[in-house]
Amino acid sequence: MDIRKLLKEMSLEEKIGQMLQLSPHNFINKSETKIHGFEYDLGLTTKQVFLAGSVLGIGNATEHQEVQRKYLKDSRLKIPLLFMADIVHGYETIFPIPLALSCSWNTDTAFHSARISAFEASTAGIQVTFSPMADLSRDPRWGRVMEGYGEDPYLLSMFVRAMVRGYQQDDISAKGNMASCVKHFAGYGAPIAGLDYNTVDMSRLSFYQTYLGGYQAAIDEGSKMVMASFNTFDGIPATVNQFLMIDVLRKQLNFNGVTITDYDGLNQVIVHRVAHDQREAAIQGIEAKIDIEMASSCYIKNIKDLIETSIINESDINDAVERILSLKSELGLFDNPYGHSNVDDEKRLIKSNEHLSKAKEIAHECAVLLKNESNILPLSNNTKVAVVGPYATSKSTNGVWSWKGNINDNISLSDALINEGVDVVYINGENPVITDIDMLREVDVVICALGEDIEKTGEAKSIVDLELPLFQVEWIKLAKEIKKKVITVLYNGRPLVLNNIDQSDAILEAWFLGSKSNEALADLLIGKKNPSGKLTMSFPRHEGQIPIYYNHLTTGRPFNKDVHNIYTSFYLDCESTPKYPFGFGLSYSNFEYDNMVLSDYEIYLNKSITTSITITNKSNVAGYEIVQLYIQDEVSKIARPEKELKGFQKILIQPYESKTVKFNISMKDLSYIDSLGETKWEYGRYIIMIGTNSNSVQKKDIIFKENNNEDKKHT
Ligand code: GLC
Repeated sequence: MDIRKLLKEMSLEEKIGQMLQLSPHNFINKSETKIHGFEYDLGLTTKQVFLAGSVLGIGNATEHQEVQRKYLKDSRLKIPLLFMADIVHGYETIFPIPLALSCSWNTDTAFHSARISAFEASTAGIQVTFSPMADLSRDPRWGRVMEGYGEDPYLLSMFVRAMVRGYQQDDISAKGNMASCVKHFAGYGAPIAGLDYNTVDMSRLSFYQTYLGGYQAAIDEGSKMVMASFNTFDGIPATVNQFLMIDVLRKQLNFNGVTITDYDGLNQVIVHRVAHDQREAAIQGIEAKIDIEMASSCYIKNIKDLIETSIINESDINDAVERILSLKSELGLFDNPYGHSNVDDEKRLIKSNEHLSKAKEIAHECAVLLKNESNILPLSNNTKVAVVGPYATSKSTNGVWSWKGNINDNISLSDALINEGVDVVYINGENPVITDIDMLREVDVVICALGEDIEKTGEAKSIVDLELPLFQVEWIKLAKEIKKKVITVLYNGRPLVLNNIDQSDAILEAWFLGSKSNEALADLLIGKKNPSGKLTMSFPRHEGQIPIYYNHLTTGRPFNKDVHNIYTSFYLDCESTPKYPFGFGLSYSNFEYDNMVLSDYEIYLNKSITTSITITNKSNVAGYEIVQLYIQDEVSKIARPEKELKGFQKILIQPYESKTVKFNISMKDLSYIDSLGETKWEYGRYIIMIGTNSNSVQKKDIIFKENNNEDKKHT
């Protein structure tokens, strides 16, 4: 399609219409699509609705084809509608929530979940997904941590890249692919006090070193769209923030694709009191090069007049519409407006056994074994168990952003255990009453399936109390009163404060693992599969510690438990370390690390070195171990974190086998980003660390030199 030629044929109204995205309920009454936003009347004329260029979600292939057909019939230039939706961790086959995926430390899990999501959603006519969410967050009070990939920029970026590759492959018009829209640009994961939509206030250093990397990774991987975030940044709503949307996104990151507001994000500029009215908001949106306005009407109601009164240039509108039409063209919509929407494919492909078994395979890798006293897990044969607590009989394991996932197709944990032949003699999905204690006397082990109310996770779900409700914990107390072994299985979308389940003998962090969650958990509990996940967000001991994260600076008075000095950085009423640290996770295997070596103690500008370590599985159970590589710059002009993750490898080690893991270290791994967003490096001594989690590492020193000269600082 000759976009420039088409542009010339379009009327001003038709061009402005391309910059409007509306919910499907404007086009079809009975759509199955769930909208994540408050739907209110935008006061649009029928003609304005008809001119809209894209649709926020659609329920299925039949709906999609009906809307597209009706639209094209009366469209003067036959410009097809573009359908976008939130396919975040699955379409109908639901995968583990992104935070859980990241705990696999295996980007293949992300890639395959994105591949299958794209296959299923594209058969229903969806061509763009509002995913991945690349917002780094260190604050579990914020409900949307479940949508992210943890607290570390390096690991998050690796997963974001895998998701974009999984959705897009090399050709977004090809069958089974769809375009990715990375979100929410930028810094949305750092709202003050963990309150969703709240102000984001951070230094440029933090922005460039910690928060920007995920979006940059998606753009470097070719993400076709970027969604602006709701929050203010430097006091200006991201949606109209020219530092973010132009200086950083368009210039520094060299993004030339389509930008879109979040749901009524442009209208919110008025609510932020940074625009008097929709007219001013429209001007600011155009000046920030925001191309599509989602679910509000500033553009459609004001741009024509703004052009006719020369407040804005039509060339800016032409540029925005050219980007939008180019995306439609790259998706092949001018050749085939229906894309890969296909009712037969939909029936055949969606929730196929192949997709569901992949979902189960992925779920196996995402659970994290936090505790396993006296190796109570895996359950030994003929163990009589009780399965109690709100998730004993629940099928609600899909997590939020699973609007097409039908939980009725899932099975509960108790049923999954029974299907695996476990002797489940008592099940109670309710809160305990004292008489239940008699029922527990009959069993050897009590499995407490506890967790968060799924409706308390995700968007607009900020909380201040991260502990499990006491009525749930009562089950553990009852079981302990009669000296039973307790295995707690946790269903949650954020790090929790777990002090009140300390009496558990074992704790399995199950997150929300999707359609095949409980089958996967049953496999892990009986030892058919060996847990391999590791945490990608620190679990606090108390909410008062938040934000708590592994890659913190030392401070000038670091706390040292071996030296009595009250004038150091510590809490009087709580340990300052996390309850469970970044990178932590147990296995049924027993891995020992030994013999860390370096290929050289000196590294030069253009000469990398390698480091390796040997891991031995001292058990009779094969298992995957996630080996982590961290670095520390001993002295630098800008204080740097105690440790920074620079690599990880997940390896399978057979019983009593030893494997040597090798990492390449180049000066790129030693560099840092400064407050201008520039990459810097400094010569000098660095500590290289390899270990099983961020708190358990072996260390070796290296010297980074220019080239056989004495140490000197590089500016
Ligand atoms: C929501 C979310 C965003 C989502 C959009 C469309 O408010 O913030 O992540 O993509 O609206 O549903």
